[in-house]
Amino acid sequence: MTDKTFYITTPIYYVNDKPHIGHAYTTILGDVLARCHRLHGHKVHYLTGTDEHGQKVQRAAEKDGMTPQQKADTTVVRFQELWKKLEITHDDFIRTTEPRHTKVVQAILQDLFNRGEIYKAEYDGLYDVTSETFITEKDLPEGKTPEDLPNIVRIKEANYFFRMSAYQDWLVTYIEDNPSFIQPDFRRNETLGFLRKPLQDLCISRPKSRLAWGIELPFDKDYVCYVWFDALVNYISAVGYGSDENAFRQRWPVDYHLIGKDILTTHTVYWPTMLKAINVPMPKTVFAHGWWLFGDAKMSKSLGNVVDPMALADQYGVDAFRYFVMAEMAPGQDSNFSEAAFIRRYNSDLANDLGNLLSRLVQMINKYFDGKLPAGPGALAEGTPERLLWNDVEKAAKGLAASLETLRLDQGIYGVIEMVKSVNRYLEIKQPWTQAKQDDKGPLGVTLYCAVEALRVAAWLLTPVMPGKMADVLDILGASALPRQGTEPALFGQLPAGTPMGAIKPLFPRIEADKPAATPDVKPQVAASPGPPKPAAEGLIEIADFAKVQLRTAKIIAAERVPGADKLLKLSILVGEERRQLVAGIALHYTPEDVIGKTVIVVANLKPAKIRGVDSQGMLLAASKGEKLTLVTVDEEISSGAQVK
Ligand code: ME8
Ligand code: MG
Repeated sequence: MTDKTFYITTPIYYVNDKPHIGHAYTTILGDVLARCHRLHGHKVHYLTGTDEHGQKVQRAAEKDGMTPQQKADTTVVRFQELWKKLEITHDDFIRTTEPRHTKVVQAILQDLFNRGEIYKAEYDGLYDVTSETFITEKDLPEGKTPEDLPNIVRIKEANYFFRMSAYQDWLVTYIEDNPSFIQPDFRRNETLGFLRKPLQDLCISRPKSRLAWGIELPFDKDYVCYVWFDALVNYISAVGYGSDENAFRQRWPVDYHLIGKDILTTHTVYWPTMLKAINVPMPKTVFAHGWWLFGDAKMSKSLGNVVDPMALADQYGVDAFRYFVMAEMAPGQDSNFSEAAFIRRYNSDLANDLGNLLSRLVQMINKYFDGKLPAGPGALAEGTPERLLWNDVEKAAKGLAASLETLRLDQGIYGVIEMVKSVNRYLEIKQPWTQAKQDDKGPLGVTLYCAVEALRVAAWLLTPVMPGKMADVLDILGASALPRQGTEPALFGQLPAGTPMGAIKPLFPRIEADKPAATPDVKPQVAASPGPPKPAAEGLIEIADFAKVQLRTAKIIAAERVPGADKLLKLSILVGEERRQLVAGIALHYTPEDVIGKTVIVVANLKPAKIRGVDSQGMLLAASKGEKLTLVTVDEEISSGAQVK
């Protein structure tokens, strides 16, 4: 079929917690791809969604005193709001609790059961309670026995199994014969390495007595479906499998499953064998990117080191955030997130290279040509600086198109910024400020025209990454109505002479970071230690002065690091019934896990303040001397909100 839809997916994210930068990254990557393909005139279907069943969600719900469905309904909004904020243009959003999905999962289970691909058996072996997975002796840490490990139990339980092992040889051959199936190449080798060990059958059920939150097996109501078997099916249930065969044929096979490397095995072993068993063609490409790290650890909620994409987009702008994550990460590798790197890249690529070029050009056109685009050279003569500049423009356009094939969008984007630098070099060579002194304004006009044309192409090329800001650039250049499909926009000479320039606004105002953001500009919270004793009288206060300070006990109920500020923790505390947030400069001494649950002493009547953009109501007491800092706590358990006298 010639007009097959370009179909692209993200993982469906667990709703046990709100999204962080890792989730935002995959979803922005998918969005940029989707937008690029739309600009090339392809019909696109971009799917994202949420994974709502399973142990993680059930646990999180219990912790919050909600039903799992309530937990899902609450958290899904956080994802949907973030995608809206980040201008994600997905065509569909699937939730695994929707009937359109659960029906398909049940139909597949029943079909596989009828054909003997799913069978019941007694499982007698090891089980990891933490991850809720069946494991073998081989999976244990070196030199450990199950008896050494409290989270490993031996269980004997009847369950249902999918005959995954039967597909091992087929899968190895398939992967070897289809190098584009798993990308990047080294990930394919990881999967092939995994497949060197004998593949087990996959346990696809959980007894309801242990886990109730899942899709019921249609052939045994005492069991629910294992969450991964349920989740993977979203990629076909959302596009008409089992309900609308025409729609399904238009979209499947999927062009890209975008995933992080954490879920490579499920997508390149479980999923293809499931598809093979139901006789559905294989995905074209499963592309696994690396991790965003924070301080060299994987960003994850349980480590308390997550970066909140909503806060970053609020602070620096949606487009700058999208640009940073796309330009910064080479999708094969891991990337370390730091606010200092963010600011550095923003200032150099966006404020200096791109933003300055726009304002310089428009200012000169305003000054010398009354705000109307001067006439260009007509054609580009071989060997002229204009022709050389345009070679760079064409190279950037080709480079970005090529990066769509390899998903090295970071390289494609780099090429465009290099091209913008070429425009700046071109201006250095042509010296428009000198040309402006000549009576004949023709040569100056040619210089400005060519630079504007190049900038127009740069803005068009970066539109999928920064849709809002690049639309502004095209608007200011009077280029909004020009062709925007295929490679046509990279043809020279599209803007007619006389086009009025729009009013300039500061596109990417420089971020004046007085210091690299990684060193916060607040002092650690004041410590109880009074320092060297003061001479008598001068340092003494009345008891009434002390009485102004309300000290209270407070319980820390949540803690997380403040992005880009390695000394700060953001704490949620309970002072009696009242919940408050405060920022404390203790992160070099305490991790979020260390402090959660502690009862501390706070100054409760301090004026609220903003510390690195985060609201802080109150101050913690801590004792410090030299490098050492320790929190002031209470000697015995006492309820929060108690007065400290
Ligand atoms: O695994 N760096 O959901 P999940 C980069 N529900 N990407 C990251 C990341 C990080 N530090 N952390 C998360 C699940 N991601 C399953 C998926 S699909 C049928 C079911 C991104 O909420 C990355 O795409 O744990 C990763 O694969 C995904 O979020 C995992 O999200
Ligand atoms: Mg995960």
